[in-house]
Amino acid sequence: MEKLEQLYEGKAKRVYRTDNPDYYWVEYKDDATAFNGLKKGTITNKGSLNNRISAYFFRMLAKNGIDSHFVEEKSDREMIVKALKIILVEVVVRNIAAGSLAKRLGLEEGTPLQSTVVEYYYKSDELGDPLINDDHIQAINLATPEQMARIREIALKVNEVLRSHLAGRDIELVDFKLEFGLHKDELLLGDEISPDTCRFWDKHTREKLDKDRFRRDLGNVEEAYQEVYRRLTR
Ligand code: C5P
Repeated sequence: MEKLEQLYEGKAKRVYRTDNPDYYWVEYKDDATAFNGLKKGTITNKGSLNNRISAYFFRMLAKNGIDSHFVEEKSDREMIVKALKIILVEVVVRNIAAGSLAKRLGLEEGTPLQSTVVEYYYKSDELGDPLINDDHIQAINLATPEQMARIREIALKVNEVLRSHLAGRDIELVDFKLEFGLHKDELLLGDEISPDTCRFWDKHTREKLDKDRFRRDLGNVEEAYQEVYRRLTR
């Protein structure tokens, strides 16, 4: 497959066209942003680590019956994915209160949630990704009720599979964000699954092994991402 012109540059990735219209070529960048782009920086080797960690998770989910856009790794920081028409709903799944949920509900970070919380955000940089519900999604035509039912089902299954897999690596899955899209008529998991898009805490010390180290200036960001990769592949 040939890498052709760039189609899109996002905050963490560049997407290129290929000689096959069914596939995109994705390059993961070292650039890091937080707070809707207000905080900017770079994390050494992040692109390569997130590419490898995402590929690892997408392969593992496929073995558990959850299909994604992932096709194959092309290099340390590049992968081939199926071309998706992205649904503009970001899906967040939470097991433990942290981040914006802890703040919104006045909970201490680390409070276990009695049941899993699934939230939807409208994927819009301009609006700062506002929290939305199923009614908003229908009202502005972001996805059909059937698609949302399937998205919720897949998101909860991803949570179960990731959670038990990570528990075996002494990592607690606090929360994470997923994106979905349509490839022809098939609904598929898209984007990435990495320390940029998940909260991972060490099971024993609760040390943060994710992008909160960058967001909150905690230091050792690259080391945390390396540690996640090391635990997954050891
Ligand atoms: O900030 P908040 O607590 O709502 O984030 C919940 C989860 O979703 C975190 O794991 C965070 O990394 C992820 N997230 C993301 N992209 C966003 C917003 C949140 O990956 N635009």
